[in-house]
Amino acid sequence: MNKETIIGIIGSGAMGSGIAQVAATAGHQVILFDVDLNLLAESENKFKTNLEKLVDKGKITFETAREIIGRISLGDSFASISKCGLIIEAIVEKLDVKQAVFAGLEKNTSADCIIASNTSSLSITSIASSCKIPSRIIGIHFFNPATLMPLVEIIPGLETDPKILLETKSLIDSWGKTTVVAKDSPGFIVNRVARSFYGESIRIYEEGIADFATIDWAMKNFGGFKMGPFELMDFIGNDVNYLVTDTVWHQFFYEPRFKPSLTQKRLYEAKHFGRKSGKGFYDYSEGAILPEPTKDETLGIKIFYRVLAMLINEAADSLYLKLATREDIDTAMMKGVNYPKGLLKWADEIGVSVVYEKLEKLFDKYGEDRYRPCVLLKKMALEGKSFY
Ligand code: NAI
Repeated sequence: MNKETIIGIIGSGAMGSGIAQVAATAGHQVILFDVDLNLLAESENKFKTNLEKLVDKGKITFETAREIIGRISLGDSFASISKCGLIIEAIVEKLDVKQAVFAGLEKNTSADCIIASNTSSLSITSIASSCKIPSRIIGIHFFNPATLMPLVEIIPGLETDPKILLETKSLIDSWGKTTVVAKDSPGFIVNRVARSFYGESIRIYEEGIADFATIDWAMKNFGGFKMGPFELMDFIGNDVNYLVTDTVWHQFFYEPRFKPSLTQKRLYEAKHFGRKSGKGFYDYSEGAILPEPTKDETLGIKIFYRVLAMLINEAADSLYLKLATREDIDTAMMKGVNYPKGLLKWADEIGVSVVYEKLEKLFDKYGEDRYRPCVLLKKMALEGKSFY
């Protein structure tokens, strides 16, 4: 694949339109398709607004913006994507709908066209199972907003041809994105490892150790995270965040580390989605005063190390189970969710044995499987080793 490769994007929603803009900016002709013709037409306005902003900021010239828009055309049927060399699907997150779309795409493309899914939570292998040539199906997982977030997870399914993996990775690299390769496992890297940031913070709140504002303050102040877990859940949306947790938990056969919380489920049921609905963990209505944290240093440090230890345990387990390389696990969390440091590097800085002891203490205190230290962490702590 090269700049001449025509890129097809199926689904012109938040992700599809962002990915279309990224591909067109990289110099490709792009064909965007959606079943909803009104939404498809609206995406043209989205491109114009986005690119106008870049022109106003002086990041691109007016001429470049015009060229980028000129490279995107709107398709009115699957037939319009028959000349594409790569198709990225970004439609609704439902397995049966995606499988039907993939079967249809296969019929309308040449045998050497790579067909990818931007799914966040479905298995690439299960999507590929509806196809006649599963070796050309792959996951290309962008982060929202695709135009701004540098990370892209590349996920080969069980039957993906290794050559297709290399070709896909090098193309997305050429778009200026940072790619990492992840096994076809629930949540891939980011949506799996990040679960503890939310889950352990909610657990700390549920135990009455601290309130939302104090936990957010602790993670920002001592950890250097840009947003605290509760601010971030409200920003992502408690509907989206809760459903991702629930899906990851189910797909891991009810692994206790990923267990969703009743606290967030209740917010989801009450439609307290966060910023977009005006209320979530915090109240965003006009005139509402955000609560002040209790800036108790001893408490703050304790909260931060507990959440960090859980995050590192998940990163270590991902490495142990060969989900990805240590570099890719660290890169994914920094470029996909803006963590200030890679978690495995962070473990080395604090000391692997310190993290291990923290987890052992939690495991001993609660007797719950979610706190069991990963076997790799334990081995490394006992042998005095570090990740790098
Ligand atoms: P969205 O709801 O904004 O857009 C989905 C689009 O697909 C809609 O325009 C809809 O009309 C269209 N569509 C539905 N069925 C279709 C079909 N059969 N053929 C053609 N078009 C169809 O959804 P969003 O947020 O863009 O997500 C799309 C995919 O990207 C999902 O798989 C999601 O899991 C994944 N994703 C979403 C992220 C996010 O933060 N929103 C981040 C990363 C991945």
